[in-house]
Amino acid sequence: MIKMLETMVCGIKLENPTILASGIMGSAGSSLRLIAKTGGAGAVVTKSIGVMPQKGHKNPTIVELDCGLINAIGLAGPGYREFSEEIATAKKGGVPVIASIFGYSASEFVAAALGMAKTGIDAIEINLSCPNVKKAGTFYGQNPDLTYEVVKDVKDSVKIPVIAKLTANVESIAAIAGACIDAGCDGITAINTLKAMKIDINTGRPILANATGGLSGGCIKPIAIRCVYEIAKEFESDIDIIGCGGAATGRDVIEFLMAGAKAVQIGTGVYSRGIDVFRKVTGEIELFMKDSGYKNIEELVGAAL
Ligand SMILES: Cc1cc2nc3c(=O)[nH]c(=O)nc-3n(C[C@H](O)[C@H](O)[C@H](O)COP(=O)(O)O)c2cc1C
Repeated sequence: MIKMLETMVCGIKLENPTILASGIMGSAGSSLRLIAKTGGAGAVVTKSIGVMPQKGHKNPTIVELDCGLINAIGLAGPGYREFSEEIATAKKGGVPVIASIFGYSASEFVAAALGMAKTGIDAIEINLSCPNVKKAGTFYGQNPDLTYEVVKDVKDSVKIPVIAKLTANVESIAAIAGACIDAGCDGITAINTLKAMKIDINTGRPILANATGGLSGGCIKPIAIRCVYEIAKEFESDIDIIGCGGAATGRDVIEFLMAGAKAVQIGTGVYSRGIDVFRKVTGEIELFMKDSGYKNIEELVGAAL
């Protein structure tokens, strides 16, 4: 019998539909284990990992707004060789571990995917959508041909499920999703942060050293919901969708599920509600389902379509 909160994404069973979003807890395996064990997440995604260690941008890299955050970390972190040993620790959390990867060429994406696949991760999430690095993230995700090339090359080189993380900074996210499906992709995460900036009016200067960064949190949720809905409307039966962007409560997650997502990532919500935001959110979902007569997550998925 299917448990009330259980969901299947890309053939992977999750005990509940909440997933830690990439980059939120840095790159230590112990933080991912903590989010799984204490936090109650149904799965965790690692920081985006490339071939070589990367320094990232100068400070300040994060600015807090009333409705969310703008970050320009710049994919700072170890390369896949240094990061590999963190996966064994992360796996002790007892939930599926998804490795996020990035690259500056299709062959770098493949190398990172192959390196991470050897560590026993459950799936790969290809970051085609970081707005803070030149010639990596959105450089690929804003172009259907480059998206197709990277997804196809990664999919052809690993046996585990492949998920593409897309940007909303495009004319048609459904068109980019279509390129992913043509390339054999198993899942789509929608969306990453949106390119944004904040100026300090006292100094007359941008606050972030990088000037621009990626906007996350509640203010991007309506855009993320729209993106999930647009992809699901066209491709619901062709690919599994994971919502991401501004979810911090059970009601937010339910909205994503109704738009067509099978699971939902939470990022900025960890900062606003604490590391056990996943446990709080699943409690809120359960309460709503009981009150409204829903028996399982499947009944919620795509209800708005
Ligand atoms: C500090 C910070 C670091 C991030 N690092 C990454 C990253 O390495 N890879 C990635 O794909 N997304 C990264 N993101 C984007 C999140 O995974 C997520 O897509 C975004 O924050 C929207 O979700 P949210 O509103 O729930 O935070 C980062 C976000 C933040 C706030």
